[in-house]
Amino acid sequence: MSTNIDTVAAPSDLPSGKRVLSGTQPTGYLHLGNYFGAIRQYIAFQEANDCAYFIADYHSMTAIRDAEQRRALVKHVAMAFLALGVDPKQSILYRQSDLPEVHELTWMLTTLTPMGLLERAHSYKDKIAQGVKAEHGLFAYPVLMAADILIHSADFVPVGQDQKQHLEMARDIAVKFNLAYEEVFTLPEPYILKDVAVVPGVDGQKMSKSYDNTVQIFEATKALKKQIMRIQTDSTPVEDPKDPELPVFQLFNLFANAEEREQMAARARQGGLGYGDVKKAIFEKLQEYFEPAIERYRDLEAHPDTLEDILRDGATRARESVAPLMARVRSAAGIGGERAG
Ligand code: ADP
Ligand code: TRP
Repeated sequence: MSTNIDTVAAPSDLPSGKRVLSGTQPTGYLHLGNYFGAIRQYIAFQEANDCAYFIADYHSMTAIRDAEQRRALVKHVAMAFLALGVDPKQSILYRQSDLPEVHELTWMLTTLTPMGLLERAHSYKDKIAQGVKAEHGLFAYPVLMAADILIHSADFVPVGQDQKQHLEMARDIAVKFNLAYEEVFTLPEPYILKDVAVVPGVDGQKMSKSYDNTVQIFEATKALKKQIMRIQTDSTPVEDPKDPELPVFQLFNLFANAEEREQMAARARQGGLGYGDVKKAIFEKLQEYFEPAIERYRDLEAHPDTLEDILRDGATRARESVAPLMARVRSAAGIGGERAG
């Protein structure tokens, strides 16, 4: 039996009956690391939880300064989520910029966020260490992220390890508001899958758009082949044994069941297996694995109105869903007039 994205098992310890939220920056084309490290979890959550997923277009403004590029990437991420299994009937899928209330909340949270908290952010410190010239937006980004989360009263936020500190900051900021005014905010928990290994890129480092080492999910066949051919191997002759832990085998394993993994590892140890054959197997398996998703993606591409309708509906539902909390927040802080009822 072949596996494909529709048959990936959900982890058995997944919470149920909770509010789940996560956001993705539209700053690149989605790759295997994004799917196996993050998107797969979004899909697993939606069966038994109340989920909202959004495309963080305002966040992407700290990195991208080209309007056309942003529009194209927002569309890409939205289509990719839908194609990979985010169900807009079960979950809310929206564009961050369609929920303007998030900025109102960001300002309120900003007034309670200590400078020191932001100065300690790893993501900010790393960028500065790399010589990036910081704007205020990059510095203040965790407050916008806190507002994204707190506005939904999210219990769980599925994210990669790199976002854990931002979640802690969201909790700290929520506590400050709750103490200063009233207990209005739920404290969110990060949800980081324990069994999600870091997916290696074609150069063996972590797969990341920043390292130009990705294998993209919705890439055209020819370009996909090229990306897979770039997977780094060594010069061990075909007949010699090979290390089954090499990135090329780890990438194969993403698409293989236990038996296939075992067989591949045995062939590697035995010798007589060429790296080219492993790459060919990855190419074929990847295409088979993502075939239903690729079909759905092409279909959405051909019907841009469907996508826009889904995002608009998501925005309407998101705005309705956050309205009661925003009313409580304003009232707690003494902002705006008195309202009856
Ligand atoms: P990138 O590193 O390409 O910029 P992002 O930082 O936008 O990717 O990551 C989006 C989500 O995908 C995050 O939750 C992150 O943890 C996850 N992710 C990205 N790359 C990998 C990888 N190589 N392995 C596992 N998870 C990953
Ligand atoms: N900061 C996240 C990232 O870079 C994206 C993000 C923005 C997010 N707001 C969020 C994730 C709220 C979870 C919840 O990947």
